[in-house]
Amino acid sequence: MQHAGRAAEIRAVGIGKSFGSFQALKDLSLDIGRGEFLTLLGPSGSGKTTFLMILAGFEAPSEGRLFSDGVDITDQPAERRSSGMVFQGYALFPHMSVEANIAFPLKVRRKPEQEIRRRVAEMVERVGLKGHEHKLPSKLSGGQQQRVALARALAFEPGVLLLDEPFSALDKSLRGQMQAEMKRLHEETGTTFVFVTHDQSEALALSSRVAIFNHGELLQVGTPQEVYERPGNRFVAEFLGEINMLPLRDVRPAGDGVRGLCEDREIALRNAGGGARTDALLAIRPEHMSIAREPGPQENGIAATATSSTYLGSATRLELTTRGGAKVTVSVPTETARQALGEDGGVWLTWPQDRGFLLPASG
Ligand SMILES: Nc1ncnc2c1ncn2[C@@H]1O[C@H](COP(=O)(O)OP(=O)(O)OP(=O)(O)O)[C@@H](O)[C@H]1O
Ligand SMILES: [Mg+2]
Repeated sequence: MQHAGRAAEIRAVGIGKSFGSFQALKDLSLDIGRGEFLTLLGPSGSGKTTFLMILAGFEAPSEGRLFSDGVDITDQPAERRSSGMVFQGYALFPHMSVEANIAFPLKVRRKPEQEIRRRVAEMVERVGLKGHEHKLPSKLSGGQQQRVALARALAFEPGVLLLDEPFSALDKSLRGQMQAEMKRLHEETGTTFVFVTHDQSEALALSSRVAIFNHGELLQVGTPQEVYERPGNRFVAEFLGEINMLPLRDVRPAGDGVRGLCEDREIALRNAGGGARTDALLAIRPEHMSIAREPGPQENGIAATATSSTYLGSATRLELTTRGGAKVTVSVPTETARQALGEDGGVWLTWPQDRGFLLPASG
């Protein structure tokens, strides 16, 4: 089923969607590359499904245009688009067998009987459902039903596969299995995948790029590394995982980065990006911070006191309060915690100069 040549390239330009006076999507522009695995990530109600429905042609945008391989498809009905869709909840036809479910999109497209039989057999094999062809969906497990939904969406070799939280109904281990399966299907088919989730670790693990939505706005698009390590704003930084924030004063350019005052200690930040501001927030992921009796010569450090310590085996999770009153969380090797913590919990909080990023002080 190698058909990378068919994978579609999608371009959304200034897409908006209003339901009455409510704006569900605002001025959304996004390029989705051929064969890309793009994930739409955002909290409930942020507009992910609405955008997917517009890509599929089930909803018309109120503003903007949509292109597939350079062709304007904004007014093209869903059945004429080359997109397969797996819905939030699997939406299989309950009265049809596994085989008939997978064959359905091929029949709608009036493919020859022989081709339908061949494709269905191929898809059944590919998603590991051999021997289950004649069963009704109600006789299948959740994971098996999800495989049928995937097979049905991929059966006609769509240019783009749209997946709306396909695994939300599955338990954790099955979810892991299906994620691996979806990744494999993406690699094997070369199809463009647009995948919706509100699970940030799922987004980071699976995608070539992640698009972060909030309140109908596309806030940032980038590789998992870019959005996690260089978030463009506070919402993105906090949505993607735990983050410590320290006020930074008197920020000024220095070499390839900036310097500034963090609780009266001079600290350096390399590759700061984003332009220096007089006052800012220095944001650092917990795994990029450590503790020590003294900061090393090339390290940043500020004084803090551990207020709670949770033993997790090889790691210890510490909650600290800095002298200036900021709350910080770190996870360090248990041995480090034993050696560094003073009797009274006093310790230096340390981090390398090339870790962390600046966010606006307010907003
Ligand atoms: N047909 C509709 N009529 C009116 N409002 C709608 C309609 N469809 C969606 N909305 C509203 O648009 C907003 C975005 O909805 P959408 O379903 O796109 O969110 P989502 O990001 O997919 O959320 P979830 O993670 O909960 O699935 C919501 O506030 C929703 O109530
Ligand atoms: Mg949704």
